[in-house]
Amino acid sequence: MTTMTKTDAPTGTTVLDASGVTMRFGGLTAVRGVDLTVNAGEIVGLIGPNGAGKTTFFNCLTGLYVPTEGKVSYKGTVLPPKPHLVTQAGIARTFQNIRLFANMTVLENVLVGRHTRTKEGLWSALLRLPGYKKAENASRERCMELLEFIGLADKADHLARNLPYGDQRKLEIARALASDPGLLLLDEPTAGMNPQETRVTEELIFAIRDQGIAILVIEHDMRFIFNLCDRVAVLVQGEKLVEGTAPVVQGDERVVAAYLGTPFEGAPGAEEAAEVEAAEATAAGTAKADTTTPTTTEEEDTR
Ligand SMILES: Nc1ncnc2c1ncn2[C@@H]1O[C@H](COP(=O)(O)OP(=O)(O)OP(=O)(O)O)[C@@H](O)[C@H]1O
Ligand SMILES: [Mg+2]
Repeated sequence: MTTMTKTDAPTGTTVLDASGVTMRFGGLTAVRGVDLTVNAGEIVGLIGPNGAGKTTFFNCLTGLYVPTEGKVSYKGTVLPPKPHLVTQAGIARTFQNIRLFANMTVLENVLVGRHTRTKEGLWSALLRLPGYKKAENASRERCMELLEFIGLADKADHLARNLPYGDQRKLEIARALASDPGLLLLDEPTAGMNPQETRVTEELIFAIRDQGIAILVIEHDMRFIFNLCDRVAVLVQGEKLVEGTAPVVQGDERVVAAYLGTPFEGAPGAEEAAEVEAAEATAAGTAKADTTTPTTTEEEDTR
């Protein structure tokens, strides 16, 4: 694996600081008051059952959604909720549902990710001025370096749609890295991979971290998460339930309960669930009262 240029954030400083992030869709609160930090040199995991709000939280961090409440700072600066500005600031991401340009080559896909870091303007590109040519060559060189790093250099000319699934996920990572991020967000990077591919991805993520890029990763594969992450946060029904090292999270019975769907005291959404239950009980009681009256009459009639 070739090396990349190291970024300069000193280990331990806060790279990402999300505070009080809430995202409502009409009556549904998908993310509720979530605080999360990621420090330089860290790999942080975000786990939680399906529908817990993990991807929505990523979308709030990257400007795809404008959070209903809360703010997101990157290296001390509050981010405007606009995807291109977030990328420019230094946050890159991959998607749960792979988003590649299927009919473009592997190299071209990475070049697209490089776009935010090229300074040459539209006229320079259209007129093919010398400055543009030079910048383009530099971009190609950088992107080939990334493909080398990710292990896809020999497939640079292949169409993205012809890549096996695991390679497509890796290509998404290469494209994200092309924007020279200081923080990389990975949404289920090993989904659909076999155990061998998962192990390779794990090594790749460690290697990216070693290049000075902080990482926040969503995954359902617990072995992968607990092996990889310095810290893990658990989202349940949009709220952060627990956060800590692997042993702390693994030892927390509320996490197990949340995954098994067992209710526990003070669980996120428990209040709402209790209200719904009470309302249902009342409604059932009324319905029962409604049905019992005529039945009695009926019985009386038949007697
Ligand atoms: N654009 C949207 N409009 C309305 N509801 C949404 C939207 N995006 C997400 N949701 C809802 O928000 C909740 C959280 O969804 P989200 O995709 O963030 O969960 P997740 O934790 O990523 O789940 P999974 O592990 O299955 O990927 C779900 O109830 C989902 O239906
Ligand atoms: Mg998701």
